[in-house]
Amino acid sequence: MKTIRPLNEDWLFAKCENGKPDPGLPLKSGETVTLPHTWYQDGNHYEGDAVYQKQFRLSLQPGQRAFLRLDGVDKACEIYLNGVRLGSHEGGYTRFALEMTDHLTPAGNLLTVLVNNERGTSVSPLSGDFTLFGGITRRAELLITESACFDPCYWGAEGVLFRPRVDPETGEGLLRAEPHVSGKNLTDLTIRYSLLDPDGGLILETEGKADQATELRIPSPRLWDGKRDPALYTVRAELVRGNALLDAVCLRTGFRSFRVDPDQGFFLNGKHLKLHGVAKHQDTAEVFSAASEADWQRDLALIREIGANTLRLSHYPHPTRVYDLCDEMGLVVWAEIPMLKLNQNDALLENAKNQLTEMICQQMHHPAICFWGIQNEVGIFGQKPWMEPRLRELNGLAHQLDPSRLTTSANEKSTPQENFLNQITDIQAYNIYFGWYYGHMADHATFLDDFHRINPTRPLGISEYGVDTNPAFHSADPKVNDYTEEYQALYHETVYPFMAERDFIWGSYVWNMFDFVSAIRNAGGVQARNIKGLVTHDRRTRKDAFYYYKAQWSDEPFVRIAEKRFARRAAETISIKAYSNQKELTLRCGELSQTLQSDNGVFHFAPLPLSEEGTRVTVSAGEWSDSAVFTRVEEPDPAYIFVDTDAGLNVRNWFVDEQEEARLFPEDAYSIRDMMQDLEANPKAMEAIDRIAPSLGIIIRSSVEEERGSFTLEQALHYVKKGWTEEQVKTVNDALIQIPKK
Ligand code: GCU
Repeated sequence: MKTIRPLNEDWLFAKCENGKPDPGLPLKSGETVTLPHTWYQDGNHYEGDAVYQKQFRLSLQPGQRAFLRLDGVDKACEIYLNGVRLGSHEGGYTRFALEMTDHLTPAGNLLTVLVNNERGTSVSPLSGDFTLFGGITRRAELLITESACFDPCYWGAEGVLFRPRVDPETGEGLLRAEPHVSGKNLTDLTIRYSLLDPDGGLILETEGKADQATELRIPSPRLWDGKRDPALYTVRAELVRGNALLDAVCLRTGFRSFRVDPDQGFFLNGKHLKLHGVAKHQDTAEVFSAASEADWQRDLALIREIGANTLRLSHYPHPTRVYDLCDEMGLVVWAEIPMLKLNQNDALLENAKNQLTEMICQQMHHPAICFWGIQNEVGIFGQKPWMEPRLRELNGLAHQLDPSRLTTSANEKSTPQENFLNQITDIQAYNIYFGWYYGHMADHATFLDDFHRINPTRPLGISEYGVDTNPAFHSADPKVNDYTEEYQALYHETVYPFMAERDFIWGSYVWNMFDFVSAIRNAGGVQARNIKGLVTHDRRTRKDAFYYYKAQWSDEPFVRIAEKRFARRAAETISIKAYSNQKELTLRCGELSQTLQSDNGVFHFAPLPLSEEGTRVTVSAGEWSDSAVFTRVEEPDPAYIFVDTDAGLNVRNWFVDEQEEARLFPEDAYSIRDMMQDLEANPKAMEAIDRIAPSLGIIIRSSVEEERGSFTLEQALHYVKKGWTEEQVKTVNDALIQIPKK
């Protein structure tokens, strides 16, 4: 029978800045680390080669086999045992296993993992607004098996694929088990299946062949019904020969049906369910990508608190355990591969197909997952005709691997609504940032209606929307680009109803539930973070907008006074705002009292006098209440203001006139939409840039090599916001488009 030994302690780690070491020799020096581990540190974002080494003893009984299983190595690695190359893996977010049996030595073993986290051109992701942290960022284990076992090397899955579905004719639960057994002698093997219902009762036992799929039928299954009833069954498969138990896997799964209608949105088990939720990255403060159980539990608890019923686990596969927690919580999940930039390199497509296959094989048993995402914003680099067959190939592969789920993809605003990129996956979604990077908040509504008019048969979701916010900054007159907590709240209060009130929107996802690391960023006074989260990176601060959504989504009664952190005000009066999911709130302030009703979770009370000694207010609904103190001051507190001369302008507000796109960004000439490295390689382009706007030349030359290779100049300016004017950028672009590409 298989045994599993954790292999997380006492690894030796070193960066290989001066070349890779001989993998057959013990490292002379290094840092002792425990997995999961990343070498990323704020201010020290190393992209390159590194080595992890582990010495261990293992003696196998005759006929036993040993495998190394790694849950995630970011992002490519080669693995050696005692100097022998066992294999390699490309893709930082999926599990894989390698067999070690024939290369173990009784005297002790030296395991060497050479890791590289450079962006390169052939392993996804090639770019993105998040960091490739680097490291063995998920757990490692040794599997010791009998000579015949469920194959851990089959796309990193458990060796048996379980496909749950509901028979549309009979309503029965169908669980198809597809075993993948490995070993030299596979005769006389049987698989015993057993199934426990959500209460733990044994409801089914059957046998199947080891080289054939078996279908388990459950007459009237208790359906996995999202948050209403996330009922989970437990399936166990045992590999046996005669009476000998050779291997076993045990997973939880569930039965549900769903569909998406272009006019009416999402249906779970035949009932309409408006999907409203958030997106999340894997990282958290201090440990970054090397998060583990306690971090995942804490994140999911916050998502439970806010009341979301759907989660976009972006922009890559997350650990299996996170999908387990989503199953338990009843969240409808969008899972995706890290395809954020496509090129014409066949190796990249092959790699994306491998990552897609691993993700689907490893996670297909989760009832929470309804959508497989195949790309995010690949059209931002231009919607090139050669992209279509590649994306269709990925889409076809997802269907072939798993016909029971819908494919999805996220486009961004520069992809026209009538573009072919909106016709590839089963359902479509857009990341939109009206009122932040471009346009006004109200444009959000127009965008949705336009899409539905232009593509009446294409179901539309909003896969990202949000604004950067530093909860240290405040304003009584919030404006785009001021990074205040009040602008974020105003933005979400304004745009969320546009989606909530339109039945044709199948789902929406706030970008993002948590602030996350993006080493290239420096916005709103915070280095290396994307601060669009509803909660800070350390998970300690729920920004006001968090409570706005809690008021919309959660059934757990609460009252929260908004703008509490904006405590010192240069004003004679204050109008208290509160969020609550109760219908009626009462405000008390000394002798004064006001009672208000609201149907939308937001309560605006009439102005109260503000005193220099502090005005204390309490807002309550029955037993739930919240209090705050606001103080009148002479002058606005400078600590609340992010000094940015551009406040009131969109964060990225150049070249939004789509009619002009073709003229401004011709395919056969240079433009600011070229990669910085391509501009740098062309002396004429650099001469024009240096002449018109020397600061842009500095931005290009001072970017690190990988940024130059993955970002256009336009994108770089999206992050570097000082030292240039919009006019200069336009003039530079006008000059660049005069320079033909040979
Ligand atoms: C994009 C992208 C995200 C990114 C976000 C942002 O649309 O998909 O990965 O973080 O915009 O700019 O915040």
